[in-house]
Parts: sequence; C-alpha cells; structure tokens
Amino acid sequence: MLLEVKNLYKSYQLGQNKISILQGVDLSVAEGEFISIMGTSGSGKSTLLHILGGLDTPDKGVYTFSTKNMLSLSDTERSWIRAHWIGFVFQTFDLLPELDVVGNVSLPFLYNRADSEQSVEQVERAIEKVGLTHRRLHRPLELSGGEMQRVAIARALAVQPKLILADEPTGNLDSKNSQIILNLFQELHLAGTTIIMVTHDEKVAAISERTLHMNDGWLQ
Ligand SMILES: Nc1ncnc2c1ncn2[C@@H]1O[C@H](COP(=O)(O)OP(=O)(O)OP(=O)(O)O)[C@@H](O)[C@H]1O
Ligand SMILES: [Mg+2]
Repeated sequence: MLLEVKNLYKSYQLGQNKISILQGVDLSVAEGEFISIMGTSGSGKSTLLHILGGLDTPDKGVYTFSTKNMLSLSDTERSWIRAHWIGFVFQTFDLLPELDVVGNVSLPFLYNRADSEQSVEQVERAIEKVGLTHRRLHRPLELSGGEMQRVAIARALAVQPKLILADEPTGNLDSKNSQIILNLFQELHLAGTTIIMVTHDEKVAAISERTLHMNDGWLQ
C-alpha cells in the first residue's frame, strides 16, 4: 500500500460547539491506484485531502504514507515528503499573485534547486501539458479561472510526485479543458502515479478505478 488511513477523526471547535467532520475514516490506497472521492458539500472531503497531504493533522487515527508514520514526523520531514512526493491541487488554487505562471509552477522546486536545468525543463513541460505555454509569463490576475486551475495542476505535476491529491481539478473548467485534464490524469495513472481526486461530477469520477463516498464522516 502507498498509503493507509485508519479510524481518522477530525473536528473543529467553533465557539462552544464542537463540529465533528471526519468520524472514523478508513482508506487504503495501493501504489498506482486512481481513486475518486464524492460527497455532499461540507462532508469533509477537502479536510481529508489536507490531512493526506500533511497540511493538517487529525484529532486521532493512524496515517501511514510510504511506510512512514505521517503523524509522528517532524515538520521538516513532513515538508520534505510534501515537496518531493506529493502534488497538491487545491480547491482554491493557492497561486502566489506576484509570480507569473512559470514562477508559480516552479514553487515546489524551491526545496531542490529551482534553477537546475532539469527542474526548468520539468516546469516548462508541465506548463505545456496543461496548454498554457502561451500564458507562461502571465500573473494569476491576468488569467481566467480555468487557466488558474490549470496552473495549479501544472504545479502539482511538475515534480513528478508519487501521489497527486486533486481537489475538484475540473470544477471550473469547460468540457474541452476538463477533458484535457482528465486525459492528463489518465496518462499519469498509466505511468504509475497514484491519484486521489475529489469531484462532484459522476462523469469525472467514472474515469477513476474506484469511487468512494464521504457519508456521515466516513468513507464507503
Ligand atoms: N477551520 C475551520 N473551522 C471550522 N470549521 C471548518 C474549518 N474548516 C472547515 N470547516 C467545516 O468543516 C466542514 C468540512 O469542510 P470541507 O472543506 O472539508 O468540506 P468539503 O467536503 O470539501 O466541501 P465542498 O464540497 O464544499 O468543498 C464544513 O462544514 C466546514 O464548514
Ligand atoms: Mg472541498
């Protein structure tokens, strides 16, 4: 298994109220699998992806990624894993407004050598794959919503990660661009990349091998 989650719990404290979001999530994902997660808005899908990406911690549970206990690693170790092995497509894109497309897609390489010949080539190839070479020097505010989404996807691909966590990767795209992204995911999947994708669209989920549903705080 590439990753294994057992009995994961997560709640948020809002004033006096405790809101339980994840209530015993179990998930095992084999290396190379392509999984989609569906579920109503607010059911905890993004919360789960953030935990899987090492950006958030659960209240309790077990999370093993590539034989490492993700919940007991130091921040430095977790950051290293995130930078080298995990590509994250956020629902909010999370692009830096002052950087152009090339700069944003290069961000994950800051951990390595951003200017090495190999990383420059990987960045340009990722930008080309999402069809944005003609916009490579534009900043986020000079891009459309769908283009920003594709920059976020290029950034996730550029490091050639073991695992891609994609939160609604086609949420803002028209059918032509959705198809480009789904073809790209299919290609990555065939090349052995593990993909976990959140989507509201059953047609999008259908291209994955397995669809899980977030229901009452757990996956089924
Ligand atoms: N920092 C926070 N503090 C309090 N509540 C939060 C916080 N972050 C998320 N929540 C709540 O947790 C619940 C789950 O949020 P999450 O973003 O995981 O849902 P989701 O399944 O991704 O929804 P969507 O499909 O709309 O993206 C929501 O009800 C949200 O309001
Ligand atoms: Mg969400």
